[in-house]
Amino acid sequence: MTMSVTPRSEPYDKAVAGRTAYVILHNTSEVVTPDPTGTRIERYPRGAVVFRDGRVLDVGTGPDLLRRHGEARPINAYGHLVTPGLVDCHTHMIFAGHRAAELQRKLAGESYAQIAAAGGGIRSTVEATTAERDDVLEKSLSARLERWRASGCTTVEVKTGYGLTPRREVRLLEVVRGALQRVPVRVQRTALLLHALPEEYRTSRDAYIEEMCEQILPEIRERGLAEAIDAFCDPMAFTVEECRGLLRKARDLGLGIKLHAEQTQRSGGALLAAELGALSVDHLESAEPEDWEAIARSGTVGVLLPIAALTLGQTLPRASKLRASGARVAIATDFNPGTAAAQSLLECAALAARLCGFDADETLLAITWNAAKALGLEERVGHLNPGAWGDAVVWECETLEELPYWLPAVRPDNVFMRGADLALPAVERRVWP
Ligand code: NIG
Ligand code: FE
Repeated sequence: MTMSVTPRSEPYDKAVAGRTAYVILHNTSEVVTPDPTGTRIERYPRGAVVFRDGRVLDVGTGPDLLRRHGEARPINAYGHLVTPGLVDCHTHMIFAGHRAAELQRKLAGESYAQIAAAGGGIRSTVEATTAERDDVLEKSLSARLERWRASGCTTVEVKTGYGLTPRREVRLLEVVRGALQRVPVRVQRTALLLHALPEEYRTSRDAYIEEMCEQILPEIRERGLAEAIDAFCDPMAFTVEECRGLLRKARDLGLGIKLHAEQTQRSGGALLAAELGALSVDHLESAEPEDWEAIARSGTVGVLLPIAALTLGQTLPRASKLRASGARVAIATDFNPGTAAAQSLLECAALAARLCGFDADETLLAITWNAAKALGLEERVGHLNPGAWGDAVVWECETLEELPYWLPAVRPDNVFMRGADLALPAVERRVWP
């Protein structure tokens, strides 16, 4: 059994709650949503969705819902497709600078490990991020979240991980807290605490891990600085035993747990994540069928990161193999300056559909329900069943099949959060400081 995470009370939720009384989004080409068990996609041709007090009250066929909700304020979708708000369940959005030159080196044949060993990689972004001012980091994170919202993501995970030392990681968590006061996007915060060993601890690896476990985890818990904890389990980074210590302690404190695993090589992280009932295990480029079966048994979500795989010249698993394992699969951007400068979740999904062989229904599940489950939020987010939060997107297209089809991806006409159309300037002004 995986653990469930209590969603935070977002500043956004407070700003909007009670202001979005009773609306019906109608005249759609179709409304598509994961079913209440998150296993298949329901399609309502010419469907409608009714929001009340920030939640979905009803979803179904248009004429039927219009008749039953005559009091609701109508919003016209002008014959376009409606889906739940998308969920990007894996990003490293808080960083300064970029590593465009590293991509050129990778394309010329240098490996990720060679570049890191030569002083590039994660540590070079740590230097740039450490040197940047808090307010600049906060503004750039806010602008990025706004870009995600404009491309249809209403829930976005933000990992730290470019602080490395305990104090600098806490500083980044504080900056994230600042940014999420500014943006009308639901943010789940993950502290990525074992990413790379910082220079300062080169000769005291055990002391580093102990400090993270004994001081930083309790501080994060007490101050409510993150919902989940993550680590990078890889020969380049930390061992299965080191990650086990951190994640068990995090789980005991009631935090969600996640793991970067089987990226550059298979090292046992996927089995660890399954054993601990992690919310998700992410990357899995080097995973074996045995790993996928363990993930399926534990209910942990397997998260594919197509741009990271492409950037490092790796292959993604075939959809047929994943189906046979029975695992739940999500797709995310992994947005970071090293392996995935990917700023559109829908385009990542369109690529994964082509590279793996996912159909349109599976692709939508991977960026809605399954991605929400990777964050422990599937009761409220990632679908439009009654009781879910009213987060939805009207797209500039008519059919579900067009979502993974067009490149660049289709854009939203409207993005609703808690039943409020954020394109309405009045709501936007209230939400933004
Ligand atoms: O998910 N693999 C570890 N972390 C990131 C990349 C970090 C970086 O290269 O800056 C990832 O791919
Ligand atoms: Fe990542």
